Amino acid sequence: MRALIASGGRGTRLRPITHTRNKHLIPIANKPIIHYAIEAVACAGIRDIAIVVNADSSEVQEAVGDGARWGVNISYLRQERPGGLAQVVALAEEFMGDEPFIFYLGDNMVVGGVTRFVEEFRRSGCDCYLTLSKVKDPERFGVPEILNGRIVSVEEKPKRPKSSYAVAGIYLYNRSIFEAVKAIRPSARGELEISDAHQYLIDHGRSIGFSEITGWWKDTGKPTDLLEANRLILDNITASVNGDVDEKSTVAGKVIVEPGARIINSVVRGPAIIGAGCLIEEAYIGPFSSIGNRTEIKKSEVEYSIILRDCKIHNVGIRLEGSILGNDVEIVQAAGKPLVHRFMIGDQSRVEVV
Ligand code: G1P
Repeated sequence: MRALIASGGRGTRLRPITHTRNKHLIPIANKPIIHYAIEAVACAGIRDIAIVVNADSSEVQEAVGDGARWGVNISYLRQERPGGLAQVVALAEEFMGDEPFIFYLGDNMVVGGVTRFVEEFRRSGCDCYLTLSKVKDPERFGVPEILNGRIVSVEEKPKRPKSSYAVAGIYLYNRSIFEAVKAIRPSARGELEISDAHQYLIDHGRSIGFSEITGWWKDTGKPTDLLEANRLILDNITASVNGDVDEKSTVAGKVIVEPGARIINSVVRGPAIIGAGCLIEEAYIGPFSSIGNRTEIKKSEVEYSIILRDCKIHNVGIRLEGSILGNDVEIVQAAGKPLVHRFMIGDQSRVEVV
């Protein structure tokens, strides 16, 4: 058994954060999203992993390396331009050879890992095994139609979904998928859709099994998904305080304070993570907040937010909530008169003021 992880694409719905960073490298609880995928695959006992990357960038390679830290071997396959998930699979034909494999979309997160699905797929003897999750908005996903306990069709982003399930981005295949991805034609949006490859397998009499994801699963395509994924991961952390917390501060609930972080005269209410070298001073950090390394939060309040590294939030009068800040962002009090809001914001940013 091998693994294929997708990490390409442009992440347009997550701009401006994705102007300067591949979406798979956005940190959730201070760890790049794609690391969770690698951990899940490694935990299922898979050792050989190929990651498909955008050909014009090496940032994923730099953030992931050769896999030694997870005890796996990682190879990289370059995708010249985004052409759909079925194209991603086609790129891996030589790497997989005759081995069955798990195809994991690097922006999907699932609690409890993938070992169960790998075992079920092996036992089932199916050509293709899909994981399904009940969602409120199936029209955003690949949607199966299920009749008498069998998947009889799969449609990509249908206007009228035939079930309330999304096909999650964790798929298991044997090599029959390569015939399918080579046979299908681009969709109206110009992509080789993985759902069309699944439909091809159904139409050609291949066996398709499936399993329902009973815990939580998230496709981190939109900013609100990132905040939710962050909430869910933080809910499962184990507290560990390795930084300095002065006697005037309160750190309550599940909180990770990384080495070199200083918490002075502040309240941190978990679950939350405070990165290495942070300075939290006369501040409040509320539940479900991830604060990146070396960020300073002084005389300000932050809750349910993802703040990346090297930010400065100083003397902000109103609590920041549901916010995502990139690296090196500053939100500080304007000096002098008149009392104004002064913005210096890049393309496609969004600010809500009171
Ligand atoms: C892709 C697939 C879709 C699947 C989803 C899961 O959609 O095309 O079938 O349900 O991933 O995350 P995308 O995220 O590219 O819109």
